Amino acid sequence: MNGHLRQPHRASRRGLLTAAGGLLAAAGARVPGSGAATGRAAGIEAFEGVHQAGILTPQQSHCYFAAFDLTADKRDAVVQLLQAWTDAARRLTAGQTAAPMDASLTGPGPDTAEAIGLLPSRLTLTFGFGAGLFVKDGKDRYGLAGLRPEALIDLPRFNGDQLIAEKTGGDLSVQACADDPQVAFHAVRQLARLAYGSASLRWTQAGFSSRPPDGTTPRNLMGFKDGTQTPEQPDRAVWAGDDGPAWMRDGSYLVVRRIRIALEHWDRTKVSFQEQTMGRHKYSGAPLGLKNEFEPLGLDRNDADENPVIPDNAHVRLGNAAANGAAEILRRGYSYNDGANFTAERWPPWRQGMEYDAGLLFLCYQTDPRTGFVKLFGTMAKFDMLNQFVTHTGGGLFACPGGIRQGSFLGQRLFTAA
Ligand code: HEM
Repeated sequence: MNGHLRQPHRASRRGLLTAAGGLLAAAGARVPGSGAATGRAAGIEAFEGVHQAGILTPQQSHCYFAAFDLTADKRDAVVQLLQAWTDAARRLTAGQTAAPMDASLTGPGPDTAEAIGLLPSRLTLTFGFGAGLFVKDGKDRYGLAGLRPEALIDLPRFNGDQLIAEKTGGDLSVQACADDPQVAFHAVRQLARLAYGSASLRWTQAGFSSRPPDGTTPRNLMGFKDGTQTPEQPDRAVWAGDDGPAWMRDGSYLVVRRIRIALEHWDRTKVSFQEQTMGRHKYSGAPLGLKNEFEPLGLDRNDADENPVIPDNAHVRLGNAAANGAAEILRRGYSYNDGANFTAERWPPWRQGMEYDAGLLFLCYQTDPRTGFVKLFGTMAKFDMLNQFVTHTGGGLFACPGGIRQGSFLGQRLFTAA
């Protein structure tokens, strides 16, 4: 009986080796015949550069965000992990497998293989360091405490926060964005494999953002165009200044929030009230009272009764950096949908009718979270009409170092400074 079972196994292994030989001939390239086009034309975003990709890169349609807890005792193990992640990221973003494939079937394989044959899909991998890399439970685990940037604060608790510990924080972050969800997830999965023994996944969140074929602004799950306003000078809004540690030069601070939206409540709300809440028209995306999406908000416009056309507590008014004396942030949000969940958040009472666990994976980059997100959201969390419909259930703050140059690895400047 056993012999009968083993026979086809031996035969098919030879077959597999031949097939694998052909498949692997392309030196681990995921895309057969990908020799002709390079760069963005081939759907490849450059991994190396002054800044990390995935911040100012035109937004891809999918995101897989992951936060890791470091379990390594030794600093060397962290360095080895970051080196391994850099090598893999270089390959993955170029449309290759995480490591060169070999024909051996005796181990688990250098790559889990589900992205073989798929396009590079403009994959970007953007890495960040959480406060726990520097100090965790009061301990300077890796001798890096003195290099923690002042801007990498412990985020304050905001009004209405209902953060779930298991979906909050993390010592390392990876934002994988791609035009194919399988490519984005595959990339994080390879990094998680490389982390076995030195870091483990703490929380993840998948997101999507579909841009209409005519190139107009994507809509979020509330049905509104989301992403209309962008900083006038993104370079000035995003890259950390020279006042922080040298290793953060050309880097940026990422604030992530997992925001659950009460879709059931929103879907029963009059469109006119939805528009008052946002401060923009739903279908055109124009500021209230105006016709075109990209017209300035005109926050000083009043109606015949001398009331502001865009209400005082409308989302866009409170979010407007100029009106708030805050620094601009670059938003890079994705919708998420984690299926139906009838048990979470049972307060306030109307939320008990919630069915979907869906909302916004809010990602924003800035020069300094203290003058960016914290300032903007500090006011919003208290007064925004949108708060009736949303609950922040998770998130984190990560310092994303500058770009990775040829021959260097992620965080090299941090570890050589210490
Ligand atoms: C589920 C939660 C949220 C939803 C559905 C949402 C949706 C929107 C929409 C539809 C707009 C108008 C279109 C645009 O300019 O993109 C907007 C603008 C904006 N939102 Fe949000 N948002 C959410 C949370 C947040 C949070 C937490 C912040 C934190 C600071 C924020 C900051 C902003 C800013 C800065 C603007 C641009 C304001 C301006 O025109 O100057 N949003 N948001």
